[in-house]
Amino acid sequence: MEQSSVRKAALAEVLELVDSWLESSLTGEAPVIDFKTPEELKQELNLSLDGKGQGEESIAAETRKYLDHAVRTAHPAYLNQLFGGFNLAAFVGEVLTAATNTSMYTYEVAPVATLMEMTIVDKMLSYTGWKTGTGGMMTGGSNTNLVAMLLARNSIFKGAKSEGISGLPKLAVFVSERAHFSMLKAANTTGIGANGVIKVPVDADGRMRGEALETALKETIKKGMMPFMVCSTAGTTETGSFDAIDEAADFAERHALWHHVDGSWGGSLILSEDRKQLFKGLDRADSFSWNPHKLMNIPLICSVLLVKDPNIMREEISSHDADYIYHENATSDFDLGPASLQCGRRVDSLKLWMAWKYYGDDGYARRIEHLTHLAKYATEKIEESGRLELMFPTQTLNVNFRFKVPEGIDSDRFNEDLRYKLIREGRAMVNYCRLDNGLSIRLILLNPDLTETDLDHFFDMFVATAETQLKGYPQPEY
Ligand SMILES: Cc1ncc(COP(=O)(O)O)c(C=O)c1O
Repeated sequence: MEQSSVRKAALAEVLELVDSWLESSLTGEAPVIDFKTPEELKQELNLSLDGKGQGEESIAAETRKYLDHAVRTAHPAYLNQLFGGFNLAAFVGEVLTAATNTSMYTYEVAPVATLMEMTIVDKMLSYTGWKTGTGGMMTGGSNTNLVAMLLARNSIFKGAKSEGISGLPKLAVFVSERAHFSMLKAANTTGIGANGVIKVPVDADGRMRGEALETALKETIKKGMMPFMVCSTAGTTETGSFDAIDEAADFAERHALWHHVDGSWGGSLILSEDRKQLFKGLDRADSFSWNPHKLMNIPLICSVLLVKDPNIMREEISSHDADYIYHENATSDFDLGPASLQCGRRVDSLKLWMAWKYYGDDGYARRIEHLTHLAKYATEKIEESGRLELMFPTQTLNVNFRFKVPEGIDSDRFNEDLRYKLIREGRAMVNYCRLDNGLSIRLILLNPDLTETDLDHFFDMFVATAETQLKGYPQPEY
């Protein structure tokens, strides 16, 4: 066969396979996962690369095998982590990204994607209330937090870019005790050290408040540390709580600290007029992480860091010794590479731009509002059910609950086992976290295609599976 007919045949076959896999995922017809242990999977799939090349024959065959064992993250019973759902326009954008394979460092090699990224950053900035700003796409929410910490460090300790920070006292950054672990990684990477991350206690709704920040600051100063940053979380990973951003803004202003808002999980709630009050005080922050690969259902990775100072990213990140890539010419002001920690960088703008074009501001606002409604609906179902208990007052889109066990049974163990049973049987994927009152099943509402009926099915199935597990529990199968 000629090259082009081979390509056409392979693409047509693969697209057909992908579409039928998507259909059985989106309708919930197929199990959410065909769970296998690593040993079973290794046996079933021959993953070794030591044979001779299989050529075109392998493409459809390997596609089939991969899809058969892939977790169906767009399935109505996938309620597990902070990404999922299916977004057609974004999916097409992702396919185009792979087809056109280029790098974001210069305008020259990625002209349209560069302008799209700039459009996205401007669009997102328009939600912050800032009069100026800049931003860029990065490799995940964790890395937006890392870059925010780097900019905070360099903005307060001028010269740190060239001289490092070894001459400084021990630095401190304040975060909620429920902040994401990426703050610890960021502190490790930026030379602050994980012990420089001061975890501030939260209130009963999981929110970091101004008073607790002031207490933490006094203790930190007593220890001889030098605070330089506070990070509010807009949507904590476990409970979806929003720190009091305005109180953190007051605190940051009083003590001349950089204020970062980590909206990696909840940032997209800003798209809904209804939820905007959660972001009160964001207009006074210095930087904001917004992660469309979570709540905007864009395929991973799609993450944006927004920064109020329009110049600081280029000034504090760029290094000027790469004239083999960056040439002075008519388009060099449009090169995004100097403001990025990466050299080669994939196109993440196209898929988000296409999705935003498809849904529009109103469409995205409606999707967020629907999810907010579903979180209330799920919470009410739990409260009304005699068999389930709510583990945390629902804040946004994380619903924490568990099955109520009869006396004498270890509830944490039972619910953890129940979760694994659901996965092994391919019925649902839902995660858990440990809260002050024990192990909690953490139901995440982020797939806007879900309906109340999907949730009814989920809860009926959850209770029925728990009742089956209860018979003769604990069983030796674990
Ligand atoms: C609050 C918060 N910040 C940061 C992150 C990290 O985001 P990513 O997984 O995109 O690195 C997460 C991920 O769950 C998160 O919930």
